[in-house]
Amino acid sequence: MKAIVLTRYGSPDNLQFAEVETPVPKDGEVLVRVEAASVNDWDWCLVRGKPFYIRLFCGLFKPKVRIPGVDIAGRVVAIGRGTGEFQIGDSVYGDLSECGFGGFAEYVCAPVTALALKPENMTWTEAASIPHAAMLALQGLRELGKLQPGQKLLINGAGGGVGTLGLQIARAIGVAEVTGVDSSSKAEMMRRIGFDQTIDYREDDFTDLGDCYDLILDPKTDRSVFRYLRALNPKGSYVTVGGLTGRLLQIFSLSSLVRRITGKQVRILALKPNQGLDYINELFEAGKLKPVIDGPFELADAVDALKRFGAGKHIGKVVVTVNSGDG
Ligand SMILES: NC(=O)c1ccc[n+]([C@@H]2O[C@H](COP(=O)([O-])OP(=O)(O)OC[C@H]3O[C@@H](n4cnc5c(N)ncnc54)[C@H](OP(=O)(O)O)[C@@H]3O)[C@@H](O)[C@H]2O)c1
Repeated sequence: MKAIVLTRYGSPDNLQFAEVETPVPKDGEVLVRVEAASVNDWDWCLVRGKPFYIRLFCGLFKPKVRIPGVDIAGRVVAIGRGTGEFQIGDSVYGDLSECGFGGFAEYVCAPVTALALKPENMTWTEAASIPHAAMLALQGLRELGKLQPGQKLLINGAGGGVGTLGLQIARAIGVAEVTGVDSSSKAEMMRRIGFDQTIDYREDDFTDLGDCYDLILDPKTDRSVFRYLRALNPKGSYVTVGGLTGRLLQIFSLSSLVRRITGKQVRILALKPNQGLDYINELFEAGKLKPVIDGPFELADAVDALKRFGAGKHIGKVVVTVNSGDG
């Protein structure tokens, strides 16, 4: 099969479009013919070998994970033993971040626990764009952030995967007002999909503007925790999904003290991959969720897709079509 193979850490230029052996499903796994995959921050981290902790999971000196691609959508073409209700021909999608990546290839083996059935009316590109970012957004908003109808929400880094899917999940929950922070090149799209206000982070620091929110969801934490606290309403919550390691450590170490002294919450999300895809299927089928797709790129051009993501030029989710795809 054809695949995008990582030969060494460093840059997307170390990726090769190569012929490799098609994997064989073990017990509990299915073989998926990949129709589309999407680019996530963890693919970008894997390719660069940075931040360093990614190497603890993917190989210390050389990448043991050879094929990037966290999110996939495709069709089951072979099954191992003990795969329950999954059958050959099923259309599935899921996040493989805890089971070896591998989506930038014509075929990938995945445990059935990492897959959900894809709604009929969801295209392959839409399905591939959803699992990783939508679960970060859903778990950040609903489980950690306890977002309630009528609340005021700010999403920082709002023009990428978590932000564009998170806005739609928040609307479904019944949020009153959503502000999105990102670069101005993404503002038009952000307004179009339903953000009430947009802030260009290169012009304004939202923690300086005097507005306060019930919940802040942040995939790009880069400030001191004290700056976020002043942009929260009394009893408000700040939920980080990711960002600079030093800033995350500060939040981790101060969260219980902050809660006791201020009554506000500052919390770090630990993603539980694929937990909540059934809810996303419901939103999609009800017409309440439509991913914003950047691309799609062809598999042979996956290096360009990764570079676009790494440069922060993407709008929504960067998708790579693999076999037939669907545009
Ligand atoms: N908690 C967990 O268990 C877990 C698991 C996996 C991944 N993650 C993390 O989850 C996050 C995924 O986010 P995502 O998929 O939404 O990323 P994304 O698609 O790259 O979106 C991030 C957006 O933020 C913008 N941005 C960059 N710097 C910014 C700043 N200083 N202020 C405001 N916006 C800024 C980017 O645009 P420009 O660059 O154009 O400005 C981009 O539009 C990553 O941080 C990842 O490491 C967490």
